Amino acid sequence: MHDFEYNASGELCCGALPLRAIAEEVGTPFYCYSLPTLKRHIRAFEEPLAGIDHQTCFAMKANSNMAVLALMAKEGLGADVVSGGELFRALKAGIPATKIVYSGVGKTTEEIDMAISSGIMMFNIESSEELSVINERAGVLGRKAPVSIRVNPDVDPQTHPYISTGLKKNKFGIDIEASVRQYQAASRMANIEIVGIDCHIGSQLTDIAPFIDAIERLKTLISDLRRLGIGFSYLDLGGGLGITYSTEQPPHPREYGAAVIEAVKGLDLKLVFEPGRVIVGNAGVLVTRVLYRKETAEKTFIIVDAGMNDLIRPALYNAWHEIVPLEKKSGPKERVDVVGPICESSDFLAKDRDLVRLGRGDLIAVMSAGAYGFTMASNYNSRPKPPEVLVDGERSCVVVRRQSYEDLVAGEVIPDEMFERGETRCSQVR
Ligand code: LLP
Repeated sequence: MHDFEYNASGELCCGALPLRAIAEEVGTPFYCYSLPTLKRHIRAFEEPLAGIDHQTCFAMKANSNMAVLALMAKEGLGADVVSGGELFRALKAGIPATKIVYSGVGKTTEEIDMAISSGIMMFNIESSEELSVINERAGVLGRKAPVSIRVNPDVDPQTHPYISTGLKKNKFGIDIEASVRQYQAASRMANIEIVGIDCHIGSQLTDIAPFIDAIERLKTLISDLRRLGIGFSYLDLGGGLGITYSTEQPPHPREYGAAVIEAVKGLDLKLVFEPGRVIVGNAGVLVTRVLYRKETAEKTFIIVDAGMNDLIRPALYNAWHEIVPLEKKSGPKERVDVVGPICESSDFLAKDRDLVRLGRGDLIAVMSAGAYGFTMASNYNSRPKPPEVLVDGERSCVVVRRQSYEDLVAGEVIPDEMFERGETRCSQVR
């Protein structure tokens, strides 16, 4: 359910605001998020878990603007971070360190130090070398580092191969067979405090079974560990719950919550969840304007002003996003490719899509773009990143402004000295 509907005059709105009006104000392309939808999604996820000891840590890789993060903080959510930059944002937006989990296979020494010093809830450990480095850094900093081991349970999440993470062949987590040894090693480390166990098997899951499979495997491991005298308080189940882009019918958070609660019965552990997409995916759209129609012998192309640098999901995963005109149109449909201005053949938003006739100047919305949209945007082709607008009823706020051309070159230098053009502006790298 979302908040993007046509009003009585046939204009697509976010809340009470026609998206056209926002386009006139901020230009195109732009991302637009609905605040009421975000709140509804947070609450829909939280409600089934109300009676149960848990902490939801929003996976901010899905959407990391400061306004969205501040909302998460206000709603009591923590954050799942995967970089120093994400940790910085989360803290700055007001998410308490004690509600932050740090995942990811490649944490640098600087990032580890920053997280230890901030006092995060826990690191999710992805390799034995990482564990040793965290132990060492905690020692240097005179602290104890709280850790969970991310176990790779080897279950098939049956999602796109690029976003499945819990299979043996994936780079993530520690093999379930090897994890007992890893826990034993951790328990001997002076500066490590074992606080939990973690798994995340993939993203955009549309079935509950793989989640439950993973929990069952972890349960066996947890009892093995308990027999060895290794106990802890958190069970982190990662994220991954899918959303409807077209015809998918993912489980409702209610069903997911109930199934998880049933599966973990008797374990007596505090649950941690790391949802991303399910909270923000359908709370946002990308609005773009048609620049040209181009008819070739083979195809009709609708060339728009948003490209793969703004929304890379179709190019990267062949992802399907619904496309609708901002002005409700009737009439016959034609089969078109909706493409961007980038010089790459993979720069498309839709391929072989049946859409009503669109022409120069028309505005369209790319739906379900609230997750992994802006966060994966780049400056490729020296295109400034689009603004992000948050809407609540009749009110709107540009929470991230459009980048300017000056923003694009900020931080760059021309090394005049090397070009023998005069004085240098280079800082020396030794
Ligand atoms: N926790 C961990 C450790 C993760 O790696 C991820 C996502 C999540 C939580 C959140 O998963 P979610 O609830 O959003 O499914 N760029 C891709 C998705 C990559 C997901 C990576 N990990 C896409 O656009 O589909």
